[in-house]
Amino acid sequence: MAAFTFTASSLFGSRITEPLTLISSKSPSMLNFKRTPIIKISCDYSCLEVKDIHYRPPGTQINLLNGVSFSLPEKSFGLIFGQSGSGKTTLLQLLAGLSKPTSGSIFIQSYTDDVKPTQSPKSLVPERVGIVFQFPERYFVADNVLDEVTFGWPRQRGGPQLKEHLVLNLQRAFNWVGLNGVSLDKDPHSLSGGYKRRLALAVQLAQVPDLLILDEPLAGLDWKARADVVKLLKHLKKELTILVVSHDLKELEELVDRSWRMEMGGFLREEHLVV
Ligand SMILES: Nc1ncnc2c1ncn2[C@@H]1O[C@H](COP(=O)(O)OP(=O)(O)OP(=O)(O)O)[C@@H](O)[C@H]1O
Ligand SMILES: [Mg+2]
Repeated sequence: MAAFTFTASSLFGSRITEPLTLISSKSPSMLNFKRTPIIKISCDYSCLEVKDIHYRPPGTQINLLNGVSFSLPEKSFGLIFGQSGSGKTTLLQLLAGLSKPTSGSIFIQSYTDDVKPTQSPKSLVPERVGIVFQFPERYFVADNVLDEVTFGWPRQRGGPQLKEHLVLNLQRAFNWVGLNGVSLDKDPHSLSGGYKRRLALAVQLAQVPDLLILDEPLAGLDWKARADVVKLLKHLKKELTILVVSHDLKELEELVDRSWRMEMGGFLREEHLVV
């Protein structure tokens, strides 16, 4: 079984516009003033863009989020921190499509390497967002690992091609989170704390998400499991765009590319970590 059969989202990626020319070190004469084609590498990239989000739940009088804006480039790690009750989870719920902003927009924009938009923005589709809630193990629904990951997958319909596709997805998700050694028959509730979090992540990675969101991924774990989850996130960061809400700034610091503080009243400000 291949360790990674990962296919990057078509929204994300870089491309080489002209073929690379290699010059052998064994032919030094070739280095002397011989004209070689110029190598031009274009690095288009995508960003999650959140613009001026306000959110007031139906039937309430106050905004929980007030003019929240930020961008998160592909394959980078964003961290939101801030006081309890400031609106962090509320923002994650909007990004996951679980509730709709009262105003403002959330989209994915591609840019050229000199920061010019390449095409019209695309919506962030809820089906392409993975979200791992706080204490995800509380919401496990199955009594074995396989059913937990494949819960909700099509069972009756679909031919061999679809089934093969689903199996490959499953293998990839298990490889990514390092669950290969765990028996598929095992009761999810009998796993260690760190492995429960790995399983919760595998559920979200069965499809490669455009955005992976984690709400307090280290909460409630012992020191060993916390170190385990940090290591896992470091590994996932190479392939995915990740947004985390956490109070554990010190442990996550080395992963963070961009960080913001959510202030009481739902105001988000960019703030570099000083821990
Ligand atoms: N549906 C709702 N209607 C009214 N108020 C709500 C609703 N959902 C959340 N709130 C309130 O919105 C505020 C922000 O809640 P939220 O859960 O987003 O905070 P948080 O920053 O994630 O806090 P914590 O760090 O404790 O998880 C809180 O005051 C909460 O009571
Ligand atoms: Mg919260």
